[in-house]
This record gives sequence, C-alpha cells and structure tokens, in this order.
Amino acid sequence: MGLRILGWGSALPEKVVTNHDLEKTLDTSDEWIRERSGIGERRIGESTAELAIAAGRAALERSGVEPASVDLMVLATTTPDQQVPASSAHVHYELGLGGGACDLNAACSGFVYALVMANGLLESGANRVLVVGAETLSRITDWSDRNTAVLFGDGGGALVLEREAGEGQLLGWDLGVDASAREILECDIGGFIRMDGREVFKRAVRVLVDSAKRTLAQAKVRPEDVKLLVPHQANIRIIQAACDRLGIPEERTALVLHRTGNTSSASIPLALVDAIEAGRLEDGDLVLMTGFGAGMTWGSALLRWQSPPSASGASA
Ligand code: ACO
Repeated sequence: MGLRILGWGSALPEKVVTNHDLEKTLDTSDEWIRERSGIGERRIGESTAELAIAAGRAALERSGVEPASVDLMVLATTTPDQQVPASSAHVHYELGLGGGACDLNAACSGFVYALVMANGLLESGANRVLVVGAETLSRITDWSDRNTAVLFGDGGGALVLEREAGEGQLLGWDLGVDASAREILECDIGGFIRMDGREVFKRAVRVLVDSAKRTLAQAKVRPEDVKLLVPHQANIRIIQAACDRLGIPEERTALVLHRTGNTSSASIPLALVDAIEAGRLEDGDLVLMTGFGAGMTWGSALLRWQSPPSASGASA
C-alpha cells in the first residue's frame, strides 16, 4: 500500500507587503533584500486556521473527496492560533471532516514530516488523509528587527491523499533533527523569532543536500532524473547552493519565495501547488521535496507524479 495524490490547494492572505513598504519602517532596502534572499514581497494576514481551511477546501474540491470520508487531517504549523485546542480542530470542524485531527510542529520541515506520516497511516489502513501546511509567521515576527522581518510571510498549502494498492507515489524519504543546533533559530511562547542567520544558512545547505542525497539513494534515483526540486523557500542563495551541490539545474526548481517570503510549513506545498497549476508536471515525473527548519529539523520526500483522474490543471 502507498499514497496517491488526489487533490491540491493553496491560500495566501490578500494583503501584500513589498520590500519598498518595509523600507519605510526599517533600515533596509529592496536591493539588499532581493540580493541576499531573493524575496520581493510577502503576504500578511488571516489566522493559521483560516489559511488552512482555504487551502484544505480547495484541495478537497479538486479531489472530489467527500470531507466526511477523511480519516485524518494533519496540520503542519509552527504558529497555531491558540496553545489549546490545536488549530487542526478548528479546520476539522469548518471543513466537515471525518476521523481525527492533530497539529504537527517540525518547523519548516513540517509539511514533509506530515506527508511521510500520512503515508505510514495509509499503509496501515487509513483510506484518506488531508495534509496541510499553514502559517502566520507575521504574528511571531518582530517587525522592528531587520534581520528577520524581511524574510517571513503567511500562507497555506494542502494535499488530499488516498491509499493506493502497490508502491504508491512516495518512493523514498528522509527525516532528521540535529538538536545540538536548536539555539540558532528560536521563538519563545508569546515571543518573536530570533535567528543566527549565517549559521542557519551554512547548516541549511549541508542538511538539504545530505537529506536529498539519502532520499535519492534510497529510491535508487540519480539527481539528473529529478524533474522538479521543491525546496523549502527560505533564501534563493540556499536553494542555488543546494542545486549546485546536487547537480540539479535551478530551472528545475519550484520557486515562489520572491512573492511569498519564507512561510515555513506552508512553503513546500505552496511551491508544489504552484508548479502543478502551471502544468510543469507530467505523469511519471520525479519530484523531490526537501526542507530544513528550526530544531534543526530536515525532511525530504521523493514522489512520482501521477495526475488524478478527475483533476483539472495537471498535465495528462
Ligand atoms: N537590510 C539591510 N542590511 C541588513 C539586513 C536588512 N534587512 N539584515 C541584516 N543586514 C546587515 C547585517 O547587519 C550585516 O551588517 P554588518 O556586516 O555591518 O554586520 C550585513 O547586512 C550582512 O549580514 P549577514 O547576516 O552576513 O547577511 P547574509 O548574507 O548572511 O544574509 C540572511 C542574511 C538573509 C538572514 C541569510 O543569512 C539567511 O537567509 N540565512 C538563513 C535564514 C533562514 O533560512 N531562516 C529560516 C529558517 S526556517 C524556519 O524555521 C523559519
């Protein structure tokens, strides 16, 4: 048994905050932000549950799956709306889902963790799982700190997964955490993100590349066979350095960070959904997702793309 993707969806708040907007309140410039991070603007607003509901609803509608037939919804987020209850409970209620719901926090690797766990659940008997990555990082960003304020944004992305006989679409995966580096990126409850940007940068390239290589080796796939790399959208220079070391050309990456900023758990599904909707995937294409985040966590997953029978927007 394995997983099959039946639907996808994403959501971004309406409010756009450009680099030029940030220039008005911070000692920074559009040029610096673009050069150092690749980010041009980000979306800000709504709650984590609202973004998760919008992305989840779009994914369910596209899949044609009856919400009540979902066995579990996993919401990957580092920014739940409340300490208790989990934001997934709100999403479950609003979408009229069946089965259970829980939040998962593995920082920016959260969506890949959720996908891998969903695969395990489908293998062991669940029929349908909704995985969502949604964040409102704007709520934990210190807007007076130029070291972090220019980087983050809000958004959500979702996939509807179904159990499939046979190997399924997930061909390999790798999850990890190096907690000796947990202090380089932190946010206390009720506080703001603090980050040693240079240290995160250095380690991010290393863990992305190592995790991606382990995943490819597990599935006996060469980097040149990867049609689309979907990296965590933190910094274009991290992505370029990883592409370089993996031998995957930058044109084969899914990129949304120029218009979303870093949306943590939402970044990989946002980039994946963008690529699917742009018709960049054909049946049989290999898609490698790879992320890193606070913890320091990492996660990679290799998928073989297969357009669902009822889907619109995907290549046949
Ligand atoms: N505007 C202008 N100047 C700035 C800004 C800004 N917004 N921010 C920092 N600077 C200054 C610094 O103060 C420093 O000045 P100094 O040389 O006088 O000390 C100078 O620019 C260079 O700073 P660096 O930190 O060396 O800049 P760098 O090229 O490393 O880029 C950045 C900084 C963008 C933060 C980069 O290190 C990075 O992206 N790191 C990884 C961050 C990341 O991925 N975080 C997310 C992790 S995922 C998660 O869990 C949320």
